[in-house]
Amino acid sequence: MKELAHVNGVVTEIDDAYISINDRGLQFGDGVYEVARSYDGRLWALERHFERFERSLKEIWLDHVSMDYVRKAVVETYAASRIPNALVYWQATRGVSERDYAFDDKTKPTLIVTARHMYTLNPTHRTDGVSVVTHSEIRWARVDIKSLNLLGNMIAKRAARDAGAFEAVFVKDGVMTEGASTSLFIIRDGELVTREEGHHILPGVTRAVVIECANELGLNVRLEPYTLDDLLAADEAMLTGTTFGVYSIVNVDGKAIGTGKPGRLVRRLDQRYHERVHEGRE
Ligand code: PDD
Repeated sequence: MKELAHVNGVVTEIDDAYISINDRGLQFGDGVYEVARSYDGRLWALERHFERFERSLKEIWLDHVSMDYVRKAVVETYAASRIPNALVYWQATRGVSERDYAFDDKTKPTLIVTARHMYTLNPTHRTDGVSVVTHSEIRWARVDIKSLNLLGNMIAKRAARDAGAFEAVFVKDGVMTEGASTSLFIIRDGELVTREEGHHILPGVTRAVVIECANELGLNVRLEPYTLDDLLAADEAMLTGTTFGVYSIVNVDGKAIGTGKPGRLVRRLDQRYHERVHEGRE
């Protein structure tokens, strides 16, 4: 097992990988990325991540990056690492150029892939649920693009950590969007509610699988705006994300959600999600 990096076709150990200081990813955050993980030697929901990546590339006019090449680089870097439970990250930037806001379509993009050990999750987050704090929506207006520009997310995450919470969830004009690095759901009157897709949220891969799990369990799903008051009054609430799957939210800004313990429907969704992972039903 070895943590590996791929940079434009060159595979090395992580610490031996370098890119130019003139890379537009470094200078402008001019690029897009994905994070996937593997369970027991198998990359989970990889095709969904590739599809989202292709969409992000298109949205920033980077669609001359060959998806065949990206697929091969990701799969081969992961395979060479031989890490059963890995976090696999990849990003494409517009490449190396003079620092000029205007860009040349002919600049050769930079592709970076890393395969590392998945970090250890805190098991109590899954069993006991997590706390979140609210944060004003300070990100840009196209967070559906999985871009390298994550300052708003980092500032909110820092506020969450300072408050001893797991996550910050964004509120815009009283209406919820999503977490700093997670998708957000509530359960109200037996229905699952999460924001509709659009420029205001990242279309989470885990979010999509969990919506399918809800359908399989016969749970009604509403894709629509909901407010901070709805979150505070919810029967249950949860976060989803690639690294952990499903976490119940038991506290928002110091106020208990529902009974203050993980609720029945979130537990069922969590269980069904992990069943799908173990069955490889992506
Ligand atoms: N974050 N919303 C935001 C803003 C995110 O950054 C993420 C993922 C999600 C969940 O998406 P998915 O289910 O596809 O992981 C929602 C990743 C893990 C990251 O940036 O590290």
